[in-house]
Amino acid sequence: MTADPARSLESYNPFDPAVQEDPWDYYALLRREAPVFKDPHTGLYMVSSYPLVLQAVKDWETFSNRFAAAMAPSDGPKAFDEAALEPDEQIEQGILDQPLVPVDTMLTADPPVQKRYRSLVDKAFRLKRVKSLHPRIRELAEELLAAFEGDSRVELREQFAVPLPLGVIAEQLGVPREHLPVFKKWSDGFVAQLGGMASPEEQQKAAELIFEFQRYFAKIVVDRRAAPRDDIISDMVNAADERGQPLNMAESLSILQQLLVAGNETTASTISEGARLFAEHPDAWQAIREDPSRIPNAVEEILRLATPTANMWRVTTRDTELAGVAIPQGAMVMLRYAAADRDEEVFPDPDRFDIERANASEHLAFGHGIHFCIGAQLAKAELVNAFQLLSERLRSIRIPADAPPLEHTPNILLRGLKSLPLELDWA
Ligand code: HEM
Repeated sequence: MTADPARSLESYNPFDPAVQEDPWDYYALLRREAPVFKDPHTGLYMVSSYPLVLQAVKDWETFSNRFAAAMAPSDGPKAFDEAALEPDEQIEQGILDQPLVPVDTMLTADPPVQKRYRSLVDKAFRLKRVKSLHPRIRELAEELLAAFEGDSRVELREQFAVPLPLGVIAEQLGVPREHLPVFKKWSDGFVAQLGGMASPEEQQKAAELIFEFQRYFAKIVVDRRAAPRDDIISDMVNAADERGQPLNMAESLSILQQLLVAGNETTASTISEGARLFAEHPDAWQAIREDPSRIPNAVEEILRLATPTANMWRVTTRDTELAGVAIPQGAMVMLRYAAADRDEEVFPDPDRFDIERANASEHLAFGHGIHFCIGAQLAKAELVNAFQLLSERLRSIRIPADAPPLEHTPNILLRGLKSLPLELDWA
């Protein structure tokens, strides 16, 4: 795709829903004309080419992840301090009378704070645990598919793509099946807040949801400390750092909230976008049906082309310069992962869906470096199992001719389809 030569960069407003829906010409123009660009509408600095996104990500001392504090300096999340480690007896018993102030943990912290949390949570997401989850992921996917088996039409996002990752993480965090709807409500609330487009009423609602979420999980954390089970939450709340210090309640709850936000919407969006791409490319569908060993690379190509974490924040800790553009201290920087993943210098013919692409896995959909997605292996396990099952059972999938045009949910950071109706031919 080539950008419209008649349009200037300034004529695009990145918050315009039409631009968010179809950002590809805008991204191409950004990469070509100003891979580091100060947007006149918002004052944000946007980084859009693959090498420059990488350069910024690697320089985490200058391009900091402490953006939550920068966005809400007065009452935003507090940075980790030693006092936060003091156990509060009531809280430790799972009783919360008032909301706990969220602690900046991984995504919204820098080393050494981020490193401490990261090493504790990494223990819960280790490869051995993820590998052991494969059969259960397959089982959950089969249960979801059984509910529409034989139907000629499905709403794939709602009936499969959303409930699969939600079911997996809910089970691993100790949420019983009957509580899934409220778990989903919390996840949606957090994502809306992260989207940066919430009204004051929505923010108030999100604050209430967070308190509800905290009260619910405080009890589970206490239970798992007393009686660990074979799940991610038990591994997490019982892990200790090098000083023998485990996570306290405020830290545990902040991390659980982050897992919920980071894991569900992104994976659901990737399953939906992947199914859309396969529906639009029947040859690719036949290719994975004939040889399922092509699925892992196809999943990488879906992540590259659809990059659900379209943008991520950074905030500069000092005056700096990137590709000759001066960026002052305290500037909000938007790393445009989705634009970088279509950089023609790295991915030839970047808009093409090519499941055999040799370097598809070099995409930045999971970020890079110290903040590289902790759930990447889990997400890939879900994606591979999902497409394995769907391609075994479905001869072909199509977007119905009478379906309205597909649309994405407006969100400045995450990109995901609102819905995905599909026509199905069963094998
Ligand atoms: C296809 C699915 C997913 C995508 C595309 C994705 C993408 C990302 C990206 C881009 C980052 C780095 C953010 C940055 O640069 O600041 C990240 C970090 C993170 N992700 Fe994921 N993610 C996915 C699934 C998951 C899952 C399933 C979980 C957990 C259940 C998860 C948990 C996290 C956490 C905790 C971080 C923060 C890590 C840190 O800052 O050290 N993600 N993810």
